[in-house]
Amino acid sequence: MDSSNLVILFSFSYFLLHLPALTTAQPDFDDYSCDYYNNVGNYTTNSTFQRNLNSLLSSLASNTQIDYGFYNLSVGEIPERVNAIALCRGDVAVDACQRFVNNSILEILQVCPNRMEAFGVYELCMIRYSNRSIFGVLEERPSMDMANGPKVLDVNLFNQALQTLLARLQGRATSGNSLRKFATGNQSAGFETVYALVQCTPDLSEQQCSSCLLGLFRMITSDGNMQWKIGVRLARPSCNLRWETGSFFNVTPETLPPPTQASPISPPVAQGRP
Ligand SMILES: *[C@@H]1O[C@H](CO)[C@@H](O)[C@H](O)[C@H]1NC(C)=O
Ligand SMILES: *[C@@H]1O[C@H](CO)[C@@H](O)[C@H](O)[C@H]1NC(C)=O
Ligand SMILES: *[C@@H]1O[C@H](CO)[C@@H](O)[C@H](O)[C@H]1NC(C)=O
Ligand SMILES: *[C@@H]1O[C@H](CO)[C@@H](O)[C@H](O)[C@H]1NC(C)=O
Ligand SMILES: *[C@@H]1O[C@H](CO)[C@@H](O)[C@H](O)[C@H]1NC(C)=O
Ligand SMILES: *[C@@H]1O[C@H](CO)[C@@H](O)[C@H](O)[C@H]1NC(C)=O
Repeated sequence: MDSSNLVILFSFSYFLLHLPALTTAQPDFDDYSCDYYNNVGNYTTNSTFQRNLNSLLSSLASNTQIDYGFYNLSVGEIPERVNAIALCRGDVAVDACQRFVNNSILEILQVCPNRMEAFGVYELCMIRYSNRSIFGVLEERPSMDMANGPKVLDVNLFNQALQTLLARLQGRATSGNSLRKFATGNQSAGFETVYALVQCTPDLSEQQCSSCLLGLFRMITSDGNMQWKIGVRLARPSCNLRWETGSFFNVTPETLPPPTQASPISPPVAQGRP
């Protein structure tokens, strides 16, 4: 077996080890931040803020109307208002998404007790809440970098393919609608093929989504090691991307059918002050 075959074998084994565990619960976040944007501080036990947060998270958990993987809910009145966003990866089925959102709710309360804002990331879903208004707001920090794995076979060839692919996916994701801004694809890089996805929260404008993704692309080029890796995940609250040298997503159609006009979806905005 020559060395390039060995590398391919190694790459393939790496890929197998990192397949998403779709059927099992994933209790621990891959990464999280308990004061992710401003250090806004802590709420006190039994406060109105806590009641609003609990009520918000339980309405997230019990929500079965949202079937497009993006949850944006608020509870309460300023200054005790809590806003939350949960986003599943664009290729995750509705029932799996609800499971991941449920997990993330339990997890965020556990890892960030009493925090007025928090952000947690799983492979297939992320969640954040804050007392700030976060809908339609571009949030580019913190940056979470889950890069690892061995080096690609041909760095130049791979990087060219990666740039081409990411630029194409950026165009597709940013032109998505208000329910989904997500794109996947692949590009040949000699002996390897790079598979990638990019996603923004769909409440962002085309422009905001674009600048969020460009921020992630800059992270890649400014990190000398990252662009060599066969697998990388980057996440910011407003957008995320991932690439691998093996396919890791469910292929979804390039253009989505327009959302059904028969049942306009307006997520419930609970106004809960018990
Ligand atoms: C909030 O609570 C955490 C954990 O008890 C503490 O480390 C942090 O400093 C607190 N933040 C503020 C702004 O008080
Ligand atoms: C919060 O409320 C519960 C039930 O009313 C009470 O048992 C508990 O002592 C309260 N905790 C604090 C810190 O006030
Ligand atoms: C999520 O949690 C809620 C409330 O605990 C429950 O009613 C719902 O069935 C759960 N959904 C899934 C998909 O597990
Ligand atoms: C969020 O909470 C912090 C800390 O209590 C406060 O300074 C800030 O004004 C609040 N923001 C909003 C939008 O209520
Ligand atoms: C929540 O998201 C949906 C779908 O993007 C959108 O139609 C709705 O206006 C959003 N609600 C808020 C409060 O931002
Ligand atoms: C790879 O790209 C080709 C052409 O764009 C597409 O037909 C195919 O479905 C893609 N495969 C995967 C796994 O995305």
